[in-house]
Amino acid sequence: MGFAQWYDEKLAPRFIQCACSSPAIMKMREKVVPLASGKVFEIGCGGGINQQLYDPAKVTSFAGMDPSAKGLDYTREAVARKGWVADVRQGFGEAIPFEDESFDTVVCTFTLCSVCDTAQTLRELRRILKPGGRLLYAEHGQAPDPGVQKWQARIEPYWKKVLGGCHLTRPVSSAVAQQGFAVNVLGQRYAPKMPRFAGWMEWGEAVKTG
Ligand SMILES: C[S@@+](CC[C@H](N)C(=O)[O-])C[C@H]1O[C@@H](n2cnc3c(N)ncnc32)[C@H](O)[C@@H]1O
Repeated sequence: MGFAQWYDEKLAPRFIQCACSSPAIMKMREKVVPLASGKVFEIGCGGGINQQLYDPAKVTSFAGMDPSAKGLDYTREAVARKGWVADVRQGFGEAIPFEDESFDTVVCTFTLCSVCDTAQTLRELRRILKPGGRLLYAEHGQAPDPGVQKWQARIEPYWKKVLGGCHLTRPVSSAVAQQGFAVNVLGQRYAPKMPRFAGWMEWGEAVKTG
């Protein structure tokens, strides 16, 4: 295994897990993950950080998917600590191996920045939701200020290489709305103690209508 592959497969998942557990990021998670109920699916569940925030009194079953084998090791450890049974699989959000209308809630945190195809992933998430089901999201993305956007575009090519394909310039709530969800933005702001180019956060609840 070359250095680049070793970095991407072994070191980057650990590095990302640490960055994604900062107090500012945990606060965003706390706003949406505990709302999950019924049959729950989490896309990009690698790292397993959200496990501690699910309310077992509300969640009747849990399934999750992520392409990273190392990330899934952490998820399985977190599932074991939680002490519940979970269906955790390796795979990509662009092709989710579950039937249409299988889940009450889909959770997506800090993952739309990293998928290869945001629109296709959101279409898949909508497909597997039951009618009236909810997509709960908390993501970082394109800032509203043109000055910050300029820096996001400049830094993104280098950032992506170091942080597992993470993009800085992707719109969040508008991208969700474009795929046929009724979006209720619960909050948006620059996270404190983070550089603005990486710190624009949006979180919300998007309902599958129609
Ligand atoms: C910044 S990490 C966030 C992990 C986790 N969602 C969280 O909230 O801590 C981005 C995650 O997206 C995953 N990912 C990358 N490409 C993906 C894809 N095409 N489909 C699903 N997940 C993907 C990565 O493996 C990684 O676990």
